[in-house]
Amino acid sequence: MNIQQFQHDLITWFKEEKRDLPWRQTADPYRIWVSEIMLQQTRVDTVIPFYNRFLEKFPTLEALAGAEEQEILKAWEGLGYYSRVRNLQAGVREVSEQYGGTVPDTRKDISALKGVGPYTAGAVLSIAYGVPEHAVDGNVMRVLSRILLIEEDIAKPKTRKRFEEAVMQLISHEDPSSFNQGLMELGALICTPTTPKCLLCPVREHCAAFHEGRQNELPVKTKA
Ligand code: ADE
Repeated sequence: MNIQQFQHDLITWFKEEKRDLPWRQTADPYRIWVSEIMLQQTRVDTVIPFYNRFLEKFPTLEALAGAEEQEILKAWEGLGYYSRVRNLQAGVREVSEQYGGTVPDTRKDISALKGVGPYTAGAVLSIAYGVPEHAVDGNVMRVLSRILLIEEDIAKPKTRKRFEEAVMQLISHEDPSSFNQGLMELGALICTPTTPKCLLCPVREHCAAFHEGRQNELPVKTKA
């Protein structure tokens, strides 16, 4: 694999074809954080109106930090998994109290915040701050299992580390944000779970599974 060519092909495609989503209009780490928490267990189309309303109500980190629990639960109504918004507010309050309201820009510090796991940490760092850090979720594992022909079981907790290491080898240091979002967008639009649209794929020449005609065999995922 020519890594530079892969980065270029992925990023160029992302910039041309990306969906116009509300959290792509901002580099505010608070707003990126909110979007990634909402997107963890909820589909993009469902998230959009909730995201817009939530940020009208709580436009800044300090607004959310100062809100009453009943208000935040009400704004989350319909999204479910209410621990997400409770943890988000707890994390935002930590940023307000410990960092003067500025979301930290290192994996160590951001990962220590309530509700921020490895995926969310990497997403906020790369998208808001342009830090070359991995943001590996199930979609990114599917995409990379095909490109790199990784046959490890993505249902196993230990497997994610292999993909995180792969991203750190591949990620563009010029544009980590577009690189990570390009992988997410590829998973959403092209490299779908069933019947991936390989003939439309901007990185198919870099894809080991496509070359071997094995895209439908990947990822390997045992039922839990
Ligand atoms: N899924 C998770 N994060 C996303 C993002 N930033 N854009 C689109 N889909 C996503």
